[in-house]
Amino acid sequence: MKVFETINETTAYIDRQKADSCSIGFVPTMGALHEGHMELMRKAKNENDLLVVSVFVNPKQFNNPEDLKKYPRNLAKDMKALNSLGCNVLFAPEADEMYPKPENTNYNFGQLEHVMEGASRKGHFNGVAIVVRKLFEIVQPHKAYFGKKDYQQLAIIKELVKKESLAVEIVPCPIVREKDGLAMSSRNERLTDEERKIAPFIYQILQNAKNKVPQLSPEELKTWVKTEFEKTGLFQLDYFEIADDTYLQALNSWNNSIGTMGFIAVFLDKVRLIDNIRFI
Ligand code: PAJ
Repeated sequence: MKVFETINETTAYIDRQKADSCSIGFVPTMGALHEGHMELMRKAKNENDLLVVSVFVNPKQFNNPEDLKKYPRNLAKDMKALNSLGCNVLFAPEADEMYPKPENTNYNFGQLEHVMEGASRKGHFNGVAIVVRKLFEIVQPHKAYFGKKDYQQLAIIKELVKKESLAVEIVPCPIVREKDGLAMSSRNERLTDEERKIAPFIYQILQNAKNKVPQLSPEELKTWVKTEFEKTGLFQLDYFEIADDTYLQALNSWNNSIGTMGFIAVFLDKVRLIDNIRFI
């Protein structure tokens, strides 16, 4: 595996590969790799000649300095995992390499950025769009792989590609879960043993909520979910929203012709976890 820390080396190498007609599959990550990331990479490796992965904890997308500081980092371990998977290129820059001068681009994703994660984490998606746009310029992938675990991020990236007419195909990938249903996440590493034991409750509630569709109205279902979390006294619910699967706008009735999902964000102490499920 080639390991590059600079943009110039990465772009030069990829230019040579593209000149040889190699197709490039790209998986951007913030490291602390787990099986969720690995599934994206296996798919990318299968569908392309060259697998390129980036590991960069992007300071621009953290609105909470504490979260940035505590974000798990373990490049040595990540490199072992990438090597055994057969990754061809790892791009792992320092922040100065990505942001040599202040970066002020302000994207406008309309309603998409004002709901759920956008509302709870101001500036988060602008930071994601800035870094992903830069990474696409550096890696020039034919296909880039994103997980549905971060469903709203995936919607934002699709919109970015459309808006900027970028020549990359976005490939959505299913959520990978632990055996007990907890969606895999680098943040799970920060849970205490006790928190880890109760965390699968999040997905259990989503599944139970799905079983109550359409008997309960969206409003009633939201109240039911809220009460279930309150009863535990352990989780702090940030939001539970019922929204369409394209524009992610809240729905207040069920309609079989509208793809409908449930989106959740909860705190276990200071660790914020997100998940989602398809209802219709
Ligand atoms: P990160 O959280 O490291 O996730 C990298 C990719 O892995 C994202 O596309 C994410 O949706 C996917 N992923 C994470 N957990 C998953 C799971 N359990 N199942 C399926 N896919 C999963 O998302 C980011 O990094 C950053 O915002 C990034 C796009 C790299 C920009 O900085």
